[in-house]
Amino acid sequence: MTSVYLKLITDDNMEECLQLKPREDQQRLVAPNSDSLEKAKREPSSRPYGIYADDTMVGFALFDEEVYPEDGYFWICRFMIDERYQGKGYGKAGLAAVLEQQKSHSDCVKIRISHVPENGVANRLYKGFGFIETGEVIGGETVLDYIISLNEYGLARFPR
Ligand SMILES: CC(C)(COP(=O)(O)OP(=O)(O)OC[C@H]1O[C@@H](n2cnc3c(N)ncnc32)[C@H](O)[C@@H]1OP(=O)(O)O)[C@@H](O)C(=O)NCCC(=O)NCCS
Repeated sequence: MTSVYLKLITDDNMEECLQLKPREDQQRLVAPNSDSLEKAKREPSSRPYGIYADDTMVGFALFDEEVYPEDGYFWICRFMIDERYQGKGYGKAGLAAVLEQQKSHSDCVKIRISHVPENGVANRLYKGFGFIETGEVIGGETVLDYIISLNEYGLARFPR
């Protein structure tokens, strides 16, 4: 059985990561990985990971491993599977691995993600995991939340 797991992007696997891209008609749905690696340097709460199927990097995710200072939650900033490997279940398995890793942080009470409004495949994928649409639009993107724990006020964050 294929094992799907995450591995941090370092100098050793960066070139492989830069080679990954979605289909041409999907390129308006997600930024190029080169851009995401630059973003990772600017956003100290997030870290870039390759999504591996056995020994092959099939996709990429950039996500928070500590609270995003602007709102106190964990974001999945970028998520993609290379065009050669789509439709094989790696998107689902990769997202499960990302959620598991974020949930392992005790202060992770809510995970946030967004997509361009016309990205129906991503919308269905995220909702299938329990993400719910918040009605918010940030930077033109539809925002979805995955709630992990609620406090006594029904909020996903304890008052500071
Ligand atoms: C969204 C994406 C990550 C899904 O990856 P994937 O490896 O193809 O996904 P999976 O094979 O695990 O399939 C997940 C679900 O999406 C469906 N799906 C995948 N590609 C699809 C397509 N082109 N059209 C319709 N449904 C599709 C699958 O049928 C599956 O649904 P199911 O659970 O009902 O069977 C991938 O298409 C991608 O990288 N797209 C471009 C970048 C992008 O949109 N990223 C998200 C930005 S927010």
